[in-house]
Amino acid sequence: MTTTLATLRGLSVSYRREGAQTFALRDVDLDIATGGRLAIIGESGSGKSTLALALAGLLPPEASLAGTIDWPGLDHVPVAGRDIGMVFQDPGSSLNPVLTIGEQVSEGAVRHLRLGRATARQRALDLLARVRIPQPQAALAAYPHQFSGGQRQRIAIACAIAASPRLLIADEATSALDMIVQAEITELLDTLVREDGMSLVFITHDIALAAKLADRIAVFRDATLVEVGPARQVLARPSQDYTRSLIATHIDFSAPRLIDERA
Ligand SMILES: Nc1ncnc2c1ncn2[C@@H]1O[C@H](COP(=O)(O)OP(=O)(O)OP(=O)(O)O)[C@@H](O)[C@H]1O
Ligand SMILES: [Mg+2]
Repeated sequence: MTTTLATLRGLSVSYRREGAQTFALRDVDLDIATGGRLAIIGESGSGKSTLALALAGLLPPEASLAGTIDWPGLDHVPVAGRDIGMVFQDPGSSLNPVLTIGEQVSEGAVRHLRLGRATARQRALDLLARVRIPQPQAALAAYPHQFSGGQRQRIAIACAIAASPRLLIADEATSALDMIVQAEITELLDTLVREDGMSLVFITHDIALAAKLADRIAVFRDATLVEVGPARQVLARPSQDYTRSLIATHIDFSAPRLIDERA
């Protein structure tokens, strides 16, 4: 049986710009299934990151929000960092250059799980091993600049899951990486989500990635949710021309083959 983690109803987010109200999201109805993997696709500026921030309760103060986000799958309003882990495109923006990896990975566990220093350190070690950082013991005392981009993203993922969140939100988490590293990070996300039973919401421009990782796909255009459904259906039989054109821009890559395999 599918249970629902979060329910968005009539969700609108707007900003005041030069005296006028502009919508970053307009009247969005969307359900997020417990343990589900939802891909969010759509052109630049269509409201994808705004949706991620709204879910995590991290919208900036200047945003006006209307509508509701309910969490029937939780018994409390989720806290970002504890119930919701976030991974962004640029791990540099989530990792602090002057703190050690050990300090950063254990931070969420110390703050949210109230672990003591020694236990948190052990947890950081376990997390670094889980995201497959080589020599995790040595990594604890190292700084972000000593790692490659792909390794930094692995460390950012370790930070995001440190407090065992129920929902992991990845906003273009693989976009800045080369293709091989992208595939490795995708595989890592896939494994972590499966092992921990986390729900995953991930934003991507990469239709092939959505085909690989998602069980549902939501398509945004100009602040509006234009289409949502099972990944296979949205990719193989999109109901909107807009979705068709998004898929068509990837047609020379692996998306058609992936669609065929799943159809
Ligand atoms: N803090 C803000 N103040 C004013 N406008 C904002 C703010 N944040 C986002 N917007 C506007 O909201 C709209 C949606 O932005 P959002 O970042 O959600 O798009 P996106 O789909 O994530 O785009 P991209 O693919 O480029 O990351 C854009 O028009 C953007 O300019
Ligand atoms: Mg964005």
